Amino acid sequence: MLKLAVFVSGRGSNFRAILNAKSNKYINVEIVALISDKDNCPAIELAKANSIPCFFVSKIDKNGFINYEKLLELLTELEVDLIVLAGYLKKIPDEIVEKFKERIINIHPALLPSFGGEGMYGINVHRAVYSSSVKVSGATVHFVDKVYDHGKIIAQKAVDISDVKSPEDIAERVLKIEHELLPDVIKLFIENKIQIIDNRVFILL
Ligand code: GRF
Repeated sequence: MLKLAVFVSGRGSNFRAILNAKSNKYINVEIVALISDKDNCPAIELAKANSIPCFFVSKIDKNGFINYEKLLELLTELEVDLIVLAGYLKKIPDEIVEKFKERIINIHPALLPSFGGEGMYGINVHRAVYSSSVKVSGATVHFVDKVYDHGKIIAQKAVDISDVKSPEDIAERVLKIEHELLPDVIKLFIENKIQIIDNRVFILL
């Protein structure tokens, strides 16, 4: 069974979508760890309620937190197959990216390569989308490389936003499709349907 480590920093609605997909038997995965840069957020409560082991990570020495070196050891020990960034706000250190090459995915609430990069998270993304006057937004799941929101794109889903009245309206529409897209991509990993050729990601049918 595919072993997942899910990284979160806050609300955890995408993490909940993974848990729902698992309990509905849409995906057959083992969530071996929930990793967070916060020791107190709704996503942690959700993990605890589902008996998923939680680990907290920090760059600086902090009581109850491990550093990224220890985290890498832990991920190796737990034999993690796939790391899913589900609203994780910190940058993943290069050593982890190298060790887990093409085994770390992130969900971004816009159609990359537009509206991504440092500082582009949460409502900031939707504000930028709103003020750009684009008519379509969406969600992107991509591999994580050493640059923010830059890795190869695995899957995207678009949504019409031509009639929205605020960035919050966009956020609501996009979040709904995020919750479908992320489990769909995890399923592709389980079924070994992802192939990289010429720097493009192909989905095997
Ligand atoms: C989502 O919009 C995701 O795309 C982005 O951060 C947000 C996390 O939301 N990376 P949640 O914690 O999953 O509810």
